[in-house]
Formats: sequence, structure tokens, C-alpha cells
Amino acid sequence: MSVNSLAPSWLPYPDDANALAHTVWSKNATRSDNGELVIAGVAASDIVEKFGTPVYVLDEDDARSRAIAIRESFDAALASVGSSAKVYYAGKAFLSIQVAKWMLDAGLNIDVCSGGELAVALAAGAPGARLGLHGNNKSQAEIDRAVSIGIGAIVIDSIIEIARVADAASRFGRVQPVRLRINSGVHAHTHEFLATAREDQKFGIPLSDAADVVRLIRSHDSLEFLGLHSHIGSQIFESEGFAEAARRLFALHAELLADGPVPELNLGGGFGIAYTSVDDALPVDEIAIRFAEIVSTGAAALGIPVPVIAIEPGRAIIGPSTTTLYTVGTIKDVLVTEGEVDGAGERVSTSSTSGGGETGETSAIRKYVSIDGGMSDNVRPSLYGADYSVRIANRTSTAEPALVRIAGKHCESGDIVVHADYLPGDITPGDLVGIPATGAYCWSMASNYNYLGRPPVVAVRNGEARVIVRGETEADLLRRDTGLETETR
Ligand SMILES: Cc1ncc(COP(=O)(O)O)c(C=O)c1O
Repeated sequence: MSVNSLAPSWLPYPDDANALAHTVWSKNATRSDNGELVIAGVAASDIVEKFGTPVYVLDEDDARSRAIAIRESFDAALASVGSSAKVYYAGKAFLSIQVAKWMLDAGLNIDVCSGGELAVALAAGAPGARLGLHGNNKSQAEIDRAVSIGIGAIVIDSIIEIARVADAASRFGRVQPVRLRINSGVHAHTHEFLATAREDQKFGIPLSDAADVVRLIRSHDSLEFLGLHSHIGSQIFESEGFAEAARRLFALHAELLADGPVPELNLGGGFGIAYTSVDDALPVDEIAIRFAEIVSTGAAALGIPVPVIAIEPGRAIIGPSTTTLYTVGTIKDVLVTEGEVDGAGERVSTSSTSGGGETGETSAIRKYVSIDGGMSDNVRPSLYGADYSVRIANRTSTAEPALVRIAGKHCESGDIVVHADYLPGDITPGDLVGIPATGAYCWSMASNYNYLGRPPVVAVRNGEARVIVRGETEADLLRRDTGLETETR
């Protein structure tokens, strides 16, 4: 065993660099007898032969079962404290017509935050009443469309929007149910949360202004006030941040009850998932029980009934379902020398490709494995340093594990998809690699950087694979360029 000194402290040296951690991979991911990755009965090589790489492989039963589990867990937990739950799927994580249908089948509502997402949900046959609309800058056209289809709720995010929604509701002869997004001053990320009087961010209304804003909402006959809304962040592993936000919102909620009904409280989404084998996400039934405790304690302390609790998770439902498959193109062993002293007396890291550079006492090799996608299909690592893990998908190997960095093919040195993991050291060009937990905020944030077409999304189930979102071809990309039609001489 040789632990690489460049490995981050959180990354353990693996017992088996082929193992698929069950907390990270989708429920139906396994290895066949010959070592190949198989998802829901479909071998990685078969998927790649048919659809090429990169390709997002979505384990349909994984996504469906997580949606059902979240709804059932929250239904049961809230029923035990005399209330009920309303679960929205946050479509921003990944939305397609098929996924919207699965969520509706699972009994979830769908939360959209643009006209485009609304169009997808409607194309899936979602009844307006089962949709909610978010956004800090909804256009009047988006508001009008939402009101016209009888949307179940609009989350008001600014004072300016109140008149816009009220006006649309009057024009369409409706009474539009609305929530008010509150900037609670609580921001949570993984294991920590920050609580301030006001958070410096674009979403919502400060807690201290909210009572006046609700009064304004209630002054419009065309609006029905449902309750307060708070979303404190994403990829959250601990419940303390939710508890603090709920405490703050409950005080206001109780105050608002004095002037009229407040049937609901929406505590947003943000439940964390495992991206690497060391991530320890709470099971959803435990999250649900914790939420029920938080709201029943909060309500009891103020002597008010527990309202209907709405939540809107995205990542926790769709994130673990998807594995992105890529083909390895080039590999470089980069010698990284740490601890040299530069002219200014600072300690630095330098690097050279293996074989050509000098070796220092603290040198180590980082194996750069380049794949045929990158920040255009998964921008999270370069956008905010997200960690992922990786495995060889077409085979297993007993070669000694090597520390790898999975690099994309884009013209950015920050185009990294996996900062650090161990793979069998005999990884070679032509191998397939799979990066799990890429279901949320990967396809939905994809771009055409360097004129790469966005990859297809292939759903797998019971040994069958089908494209649910087509990949883009060069012809698709060129079709949008009017340069030849509008050329001037
Ligand atoms: C208002 C709101 N609700 C729900 C979500 C979903 O969060 P997650 O996918 O982390 O559960 C987000 C994510 O940004 C959000 O902004």
C-alpha cells in the first residue's frame, strides 16, 4: 500500500479501488461476473456502444423509490404530530418530461422556477394545482402563464411582485395562493450553519419586514396567503440549520395567525447526499422525524397548531440516481514537488510531467486522467469545488491504487470533474469511467462550452435502456448559428 502525500486528508486509501460504495452509487448499480459496471441490468459497455460517451445513465427505479420514500416518510412523520406534509420535487435539480411524470406518479408536487421548467412540467401533464413557481425575478409573462394555468402556489420574493401577481390574478379572475419567501438570516452548508440578523443575499424578504409585507399581500382580494417560505441552502447534513430557521419563522407565523389563516409553512429543500464514500447523509425517514420534532416543538412553544409542512428537495431525490460514463482519452503522470522555497521565501508546489523533471524529497505523482466531457456536463467541481468519486466502469483490476484527478477536455485548467480519488493504477486510454451521484445540477447546468454538445440522458430499468433526453449533435449546435444566412458582402 502506498498512500499518496497529495491525497486530501478526508480521502482514505481504498481496500478495493473497484468497490461501488452503496451510499454513493444508485441502488441498482453493481458489477457483473466479469467486473463490468452494470446499472439496472444494463452493462456500461452496452450503453456506450449504443449512445456513446459522455452519457448520463439514470437508474429510474432509484429516482422513483427515493421520491416515494421522501413523501411517505414526511407523510408519516407529520401525521404523528397531527399535521400533514406537502412534498414538492425541486425541478431545478433536473427536469425532463419523464422525470416529471415519475414525480407526479410518486405523489409529489413539482416546484419550477422559470417559464421553461413550467413548460416541461405542463408537457408532462402536471395539473396546475400540483405546481409551485419560484424565482427572484419572474417575468410578467411567466407570472401570467402560471396564474392562467391555475398554479397551486407562487412564492413571492419581493414587494414589487405582489402587485404583479395580484394584477395577473384579477385579469384571469382567480384568487392566487401565494407564499412569501423569507430571508431568515440562517444559511446552512454541509455541517455548519451561519445565523445572522439578515443574510446578504438576493432571495426573499428580511424577517423584520415580513409582517408588513404579509399585510400588503392580504390587502389584495385576488391573493390568498398560504404561509412563509424559507430555503437555507443545499447539501445540508445536519438538521440544526433547519431548526434555527423554523424557530425564527414560527415566531412570525404565530404573529400572522392573529390577523388571518396561515395554513402552511414551507421549509425548502437542501437535504445532503453522499458524493464520496466518506459522506454520511441522514436517511430520509430520520430527516422527516427530525423535521416533525422541530415543528411540533416550535408550535407547542407558541401554543399554535402545527401547520401543513411543505418541503422541496431536489438533489436528495434525483442526485444519487445518475452515473455519468466517460471514455478515458489521455493520461499524464504529473510529478508534484511540494515544499520548495521560491525567491520570496514562500513555500510552493511545482510540477512537471513525469520523467522530465527533478524529484524532491516531498515529490509525489498525481495521475491526470482526461475524459471526453468535463465542466460542460458537470460544472459543480469547477463552480464551487464540489467533490465526486470515480470508478473504472468496463472492468475491475487488481493493480495497486493510484491517486487520480479526473480532468475534462475543456480549455480551462480548472476543468476538473474529480479532484481526488484512487483508481487502479493500470487505468489506460480507452477505459470507461463512471462518476456516480451526477443526477442533480449536472445536466441542468450543462453548457456548450468549446462547442461540445450536451450529452443524452438514458434511463435504465429492468435490463432496458432508453433515451429520455436526446444528446446534442454538431448539427444541432450549428443550426442556431445564423452566420451564413445573414452574411453581408
Ligand atoms: C428555493 C429552493 N428550493 C429548493 C431547492 C432544492 O435544493 P436541493 O436540490 O438541494 O434539495 C433549491 C435549490 O437551490 C432552492 O433554491
